[in-house]
Parts: sequence; structure tokens; C-alpha cells
Amino acid sequence: MPSLVSALALLSVLPALCAASTPSLLAESKKELFLSAPTFAVVGASDDETKFGTIVFKTMLEQGLDVVPINPFIPESQGVSCLGSLAELADPARTSISVVTQPAVTLEILRQASAIGIFSVWLQPGAEDDAVLEFIANSTMGVTTYIHSAAPLPGAARRSSESSPICTGGETPDLISTLAR
Ligand SMILES: *[C@@H]1O[C@H](CO)[C@@H](O)[C@H](O)[C@H]1NC(C)=O
Repeated sequence: MPSLVSALALLSVLPALCAASTPSLLAESKKELFLSAPTFAVVGASDDETKFGTIVFKTMLEQGLDVVPINPFIPESQGVSCLGSLAELADPARTSISVVTQPAVTLEILRQASAIGIFSVWLQPGAEDDAVLEFIANSTMGVTTYIHSAAPLPGAARRSSESSPICTGGETPDLISTLAR
């Protein structure tokens, strides 16, 4: 089983390479989990092409993902009918959502997402504030996994200037740059 052997070999060098980088590795595996869902939604996609939520939605469509926009204030985004809320999702437990909303709205979205058992939540940069991060920290027992750009960890700047591909990135996860890789 060569892949297992190489995985074990990789694990054994990781502590030496990335002593303080566990959060980055965690972020990478959470991204893979997020992207493994069969269906997606973007909360905050709009009819304004310049808004980040619309750009996120458009990027996911272009990647061929099965994705719907959620926005109660407009009928459609990029020609796709909007759902009015998370409650309208057909299969929340198999849906990953990208959240591109103001922090005060985000907190309410996360409460709903947790209540209906959304598979995975990815907060795009700017969608979170301290209350949102506290909600996520409080949610360790739930089924939903969360990706967000928490405050940089001490030493993050030093690590990101190193050249190891394993150790860099992850401090400010962003769906577009991940999909564009
Ligand atoms: C997190 O949990 C604490 C303790 O139960 C509670 O006081 C606080 O309101 C919770 N925060 C959020 C944002 O849900």
C-alpha cells in the first residue's frame, strides 16, 4: 500500500516541518471536506456583479458545482433562482454553504445552519466578527464544520514567508483562491 506508506512518511516529517502550523493543516482538510459535499449554496449572492457574494457564486458555477444562491431580497443571481432562506434547501445535511453576509446577519445564518444540520459552512473573509467566532467556538458538539479566517496566529507572518508548500496558507481561507488553484 504505497499511498499509506507515503502518508505515514509525510506525517512523520510534519512535526519537524510545521511545528506550529496545525491550524493550516486543519484548514486544508476542512476545505476538502467542504468541497466534498454534493450540493452547495451561497448565502449573500446578489444581482450585483461587483459584490463578493456574486463573484463567489459565479466562480462556483464556473467550476461546475451544483450550487444555488440564497437571498430573500432578489429573484435570481446569474440567471439562477434564489432560495429565500436555508430552510428551503432540499438536503441540508449534504449541502455546504458559503456565507458572504454582514457579521450580524452571519450569526443568524449560523444559528439556522446549526439547527438544520448543514454539512459545512465556509465564512468568506469579512463575514465574521467576535460574536460569530464565539458562536463557532461554542458549537464544537454539533455536526456542522466551519471554515473562517480567524485572527492570524502568533508567528503566522513568519511561517507564511517560509517556502514549504505544506506550511503556507490557511490563515485567511478564501473559497475563490482555493477553487482557482
Ligand atoms: C457561547 O456560550 C456562552 C456560554 O454558554 C454563552 O454565554 C454565549 O452567549 C454563547 N455565545 C454565542 C455567540 O452563542
